Amino acid sequence: MTDTTTSRIHNDEALESTLEELMKVERFEVPEGFRDQANITDPDVYAEANADPEAYWARRARELHWHTPFTTVLDESNPPFYKWFQDGELNVSYNCLDRHVEAGNGARVAYHWLGEEGEERAITYADLHRDVQLLANGLKDQGVQRGDVVGIFLPMIPQVAVAMLACARIGAPHNVVFGGFSPESVAERMEVSEARALITVDGARRKGKVAGIKSEVDRVMGHLASLKTIVVVNHAGVDCAMQEGRDVWYEDLLSSSAPDCPAEALPAEHPLYILYSSGSTAKPKGIQHTTGGYLTGVAATHRDVFDLKPESDVFWCSADVGWVTGHSYIVYGPLANGCTSVMYEGAPDYPHKGIWWEIIQRYGVTKFYTAPTAIRACMKWGVEYPNKYDLSSLRLLGTVGEPINPKAWLWYHAVVGGERCPIVDTWWQTETGHIMISPLAGLVATKPGSATRALPGISAALVDQDGNEITEGTGILVLTRPWPGMLRTLYGDDDRYVSTYFERFGPKTYVVGDAARRDSDGYFWIIGRTDDVINVSGHRLSTAEVESAIVAHEKVAEAAVVPEPDELTGQAIVAFVTLNGTLQGDDVVAEEIRTHVSVRIGKLARPKSIIWADDLPKTRSGKIMRRLLRDMAEGRELGDVTTLRDPDVVEDLRQKTQARKKS
Ligand code: WT7
Repeated sequence: MTDTTTSRIHNDEALESTLEELMKVERFEVPEGFRDQANITDPDVYAEANADPEAYWARRARELHWHTPFTTVLDESNPPFYKWFQDGELNVSYNCLDRHVEAGNGARVAYHWLGEEGEERAITYADLHRDVQLLANGLKDQGVQRGDVVGIFLPMIPQVAVAMLACARIGAPHNVVFGGFSPESVAERMEVSEARALITVDGARRKGKVAGIKSEVDRVMGHLASLKTIVVVNHAGVDCAMQEGRDVWYEDLLSSSAPDCPAEALPAEHPLYILYSSGSTAKPKGIQHTTGGYLTGVAATHRDVFDLKPESDVFWCSADVGWVTGHSYIVYGPLANGCTSVMYEGAPDYPHKGIWWEIIQRYGVTKFYTAPTAIRACMKWGVEYPNKYDLSSLRLLGTVGEPINPKAWLWYHAVVGGERCPIVDTWWQTETGHIMISPLAGLVATKPGSATRALPGISAALVDQDGNEITEGTGILVLTRPWPGMLRTLYGDDDRYVSTYFERFGPKTYVVGDAARRDSDGYFWIIGRTDDVINVSGHRLSTAEVESAIVAHEKVAEAAVVPEPDELTGQAIVAFVTLNGTLQGDDVVAEEIRTHVSVRIGKLARPKSIIWADDLPKTRSGKIMRRLLRDMAEGRELGDVTTLRDPDVVEDLRQKTQARKKS
């Protein structure tokens, strides 16, 4: 195969010596060749934006098309319920489609889609524009109205973008659920959001196998009273029962709809979507995003952070559309900016472990955005896979989802980026809607493992327990000014919105839930979550949610779930489980419990290890002391155990945890 990459790494030995050499570099300056062509190179952007953030964001918002221009920028009269561009009207799908078609760019490819079995489709902006209007009309024919919630449970196929944009076009907030979640959790999310319709698929393909999806949807949510319509994409050729009067094929809906569906002018604060994410209780939070502020934030950050050149870039974000990363950087950011993206249906190791690099070569990907966990998996598979392909089209690399360990950063830099591509380590959350802390690649020197500094117009800080700012050292990460893409509330639960994010330091300080360190250059180094959230492969899971799934198993009396460090997934789930009565734990029961969690939540929530506990460490008032279990799993010295009801319990579990580590 070709060997046109600039990488000097041809085998494991060369890799080791290069990494060793790079390990000594503390700071990677902006590569000259990159700076010369970068969109943003003037260091004053920060000072200018931060001198008047409202003016800055108003300017960025005006890069969009407004049906009715806004006259007010930020309404902060009732914190933390902020409103942006309140009297303006716009439509997200108009901005993502019509605008580009009207400018004569209809023939530009929006997505190079590649299916698992190698099928290829190039979907242009004109194609999307046509299908989105047809589906939007189809949904209206089915009785879906502005304000109705529409669930979307689809694999990585172009129809998922069509579905999201069709909802946006008519002002029906969508509620996308990641394809890896179990039908049970989809049902729960449909029920709590009172979804009026659901757009799903006959079956999903995964690594050569096909799983029926519509049949599962029928099994678990057929009874939901709110659900009046189920639209089914015919994708995997799976037979499915269609209920008269409720179910309709996507293809039939498109072929029977009227072609023109003008985009509705929606108030800037109209909800664009809800996306459920795990919190510190068993009940997922419905994070609610808006039309004007969200689109302003994703379009601006996509353009700036990825140094976008919409006419020539081929952008690839390898996330699933079901996560916020996919919402913001597969669908809304790239389409608002009129650029060409890649969408891949399959897994990184199917049909072979070099597929990602093959895709980069095939489509000439220029900007690649992925997660540290994926980089670590590729590292494990070895340099032979990336080395088989020509990766010289790449100009910038990005990461998101969890802290990246320096070794993975350097591997990404050397092997994938050929030591010439800047890496943007982007910190943000489902709640923030868009990237908040990240280098601007033409301007900011990088340090492996640091997300560097807050973007222009964004204010991040570290504070101590009392809320005093820490300029250097470790503290609690907070955001000290509202930003346009911020969540507006938790769906149907304003109180939880306030108590989760704004209770601790008042309604003007958003508490992120992460701890971080700031170095002498003011760079942020994210340490990890400070709440009961576990980050497995960059996916957020709630300990309470996993625990409640485990205790729902008939043999289980009690369970406590904590994270432990994992080389591949960043963190992994360890479950301490007490069985009922005299039942004894063994591999069979452990597998039963794992399957049970998989059915309740999804495969991603299955505990990696299960430790059988005769009892769990509890305070005298009966509260489980997770802190101690966490210390054990992470191999730390145990703190004070004297407040425990039964200190012997701890010793027993400590021995079991250690014995497991050795084996
Ligand atoms: C949490 C948010 C944003 C999309 C993916 C995850 C962690 C996110 C980074 C990063 C270190 C990161 C944080 C954050 N996180 N990006 N670049 N470096 N940690 O979205 O599920 O809402 O999770 O992911 O802990 O709070 P999410």
